[in-house]
Amino acid sequence: MFEALMARPPDAIMALMEMCRSDPNPNKIDLGVGVYKDEQGRTTILDSVKQAEQLWLNEEQTKTYIGTVGNKVFSNHMMDLILGKDHKALSEGRVAMSQSAGGSGALRLAAELIKEAAPEAVIWASTPTWANHVPLITSAGLKMEGYPYYNRETLCVDFEDMINHLDCKAKAGDVVLLHGCCHNPTGADLSDKQWDVLAKFLADKKLLPFVDLAYFGLGRGLKEDVYGLRKVVATCPEVLIAASCSKNFALYRERTGMAAVVTATPEAAKAAQSQFGAIQRKIISMPPDHGAAVVARILGDAALKTQWMAEVDMMRGRITDLRKTLSDALNVQGGEVVAKAVREQKGMFSTLPVTQAQAEALRTQHSVYITNSGRANIAGANLENIPRLAEAILAVL
Ligand code: LMR
Repeated sequence: MFEALMARPPDAIMALMEMCRSDPNPNKIDLGVGVYKDEQGRTTILDSVKQAEQLWLNEEQTKTYIGTVGNKVFSNHMMDLILGKDHKALSEGRVAMSQSAGGSGALRLAAELIKEAAPEAVIWASTPTWANHVPLITSAGLKMEGYPYYNRETLCVDFEDMINHLDCKAKAGDVVLLHGCCHNPTGADLSDKQWDVLAKFLADKKLLPFVDLAYFGLGRGLKEDVYGLRKVVATCPEVLIAASCSKNFALYRERTGMAAVVTATPEAAKAAQSQFGAIQRKIISMPPDHGAAVVARILGDAALKTQWMAEVDMMRGRITDLRKTLSDALNVQGGEVVAKAVREQKGMFSTLPVTQAQAEALRTQHSVYITNSGRANIAGANLENIPRLAEAILAVL
């Protein structure tokens, strides 16, 4: 049977991770996969997470199954964090939610829910978007199209083009996939004013916002980074949410996330809730618990939560410092546009205006690892290697 299988090309981000691992150069600069690193290049476990894990080790009484939608205490805490405690949609019973296996699991649960409710809906995604959005969503059997987003010359969001394109091409009932903050791969976020305009546009056009919230806390702040999501929830009758704890809790391999849908009525939320359970059951049966238990422990404990928030602030502060230092180093003749973009963009990523050949040259000639599309994880640099990084970027540009 398996002789007939065709080999598939490796996932670009995972392949880059391997390439960098096998580069013997001790001075290599890994700006590939989206993980936060400290000045020593380590991705450490947050203190709040370590403490919660130790407490949980003593408190945990059983490893028996929880259920198809996973840890509900975790999901409730997460929704309070994302929407704001006692949000109207929550108190009115208009939110269905499920813990998921990471943010990717949440995207897949949400995609399967759309497929169940409106199989003909087209999912519109920014150009570019996170590479894994496409396989995750299309393998649920949904059709995807792109809308203009990032201008590779100005390195800014083309908001007018985005709205005009959706206005002409999207039809009522379609879904618009949005990055809540820290756009992956470009770092170019919508401003609060643009979110205001977009939310009204989506409501008027009867388009469903689907917000991927994978990096909140690492852009402008925990509250500031959910401005857009809260705006669409306040403006549109229905909203899909895929949230991840991989980055802001640094729980990457624990695969911790959640899917939620805000519905127009409590009846629709009840139906969606049962669908989430049924969908998860047929894909992975139940999500893993450890990461969710730890996050629930942190968010349910005032002192641990305060500590975690300070750790998020620290990670964000470091990313901002790295951006500023890199921007200063790039701000020479010919590098001004990139310098400005790197300073202003948010979160871990920026997409540099390089060709595939230039991205390859960065790898082969400078041991600097970014994707072929130009995505660079700024959080993978450090203050010591930034001068070398800037020189390499300027050399290939
Ligand atoms: C990334 O974009 O690098 C991360 O979200 C990791 C991944 O799974 O691609």
